[in-house]
Amino acid sequence: MAKKVLVATEKPFAKVAVDQIKEIVEKGGCEFALLEKYTDNAQLLDAVKDANAIIVRSDKVTKEVVEAAKNLEIVVRAGAGFDNLDLDACTAHNVCAENTPGQNANAVAELVFGMAVMMARNGFNGTSGVELMGKKLGIHAYGNVGRNVARIAKGFGMEVYAFDQYVDAAKIEADGVKAVKSVEDLYKTCQYVSLHIPATAETKGSINAKLLGLMPKNAVLINTARKEVIDEAGIVAFMKERADFKYIADVAPDNKDAFAEFDGRYFFTPKKMGAQTQEANINAGVAAAHQIVNFFTNGDQKFRLNK
Ligand code: 3PG
Repeated sequence: MAKKVLVATEKPFAKVAVDQIKEIVEKGGCEFALLEKYTDNAQLLDAVKDANAIIVRSDKVTKEVVEAAKNLEIVVRAGAGFDNLDLDACTAHNVCAENTPGQNANAVAELVFGMAVMMARNGFNGTSGVELMGKKLGIHAYGNVGRNVARIAKGFGMEVYAFDQYVDAAKIEADGVKAVKSVEDLYKTCQYVSLHIPATAETKGSINAKLLGLMPKNAVLINTARKEVIDEAGIVAFMKERADFKYIADVAPDNKDAFAEFDGRYFFTPKKMGAQTQEANINAGVAAAHQIVNFFTNGDQKFRLNK
């Protein structure tokens, strides 16, 4: 019997990406199924019942989902961050969990600058703003998105710095980016900081008032990573103290009303927008579809996360 591949996306891919995923899945001898824009977890639990493979975005693949998907062999997060996958549950049920690293990195990096320019020009409200050229930008974590941010920042004429405890300084410097020795040095040096750390037990809540307090005057924090890496109460308290500080994030903090008093100093997307481009949807969706077909046809597990 053909393996069933379910695309389960609360936030849908562009149609052009879905069409390409379907074609790859069917050419690979599998059956294609689609659950988009679901509003209730029960719909997801029902749809996964007979799926052998699932493609998701930020959809939460919890233990409950894994247990409901009795025939599940592989789940692919079409994207980079996999904090939405319960890897232990996948391992316990012998499910291969994968992601598609790098596939949507340019889209996220472009959004960093889209939002930075919008903030620098006061929301395009007709008043005089500032430019990015000549400003210092700190890239916090130098992975696929960080590297794309560096490439674009150089085009803007920014001075680019980066900190990543897992990447060799020489590799960073080879891109014409100054590698700093500590996270504190990055925040001390740069007026703009762009976050690209994953949400892990170690990083959650780690971007706090102490760190932000190191930033120079007219500091701007850009978060296209995860809202969870921010110490929310800490940043609110910090914004009360530092009237020059601005916060831009791809997706609002849990208590966004707490920011209302900082009018003009914050911007939050209504839904996570970083990877919401046709190109990123195609890149990540097509990669996910190929990974699944390769898994079923020759056991390929190159992008396996749960080792
Ligand atoms: C990622 O981790 O790849 C991005 O945050 C994209 O998330 P999305 O697929 O929910 O847009």
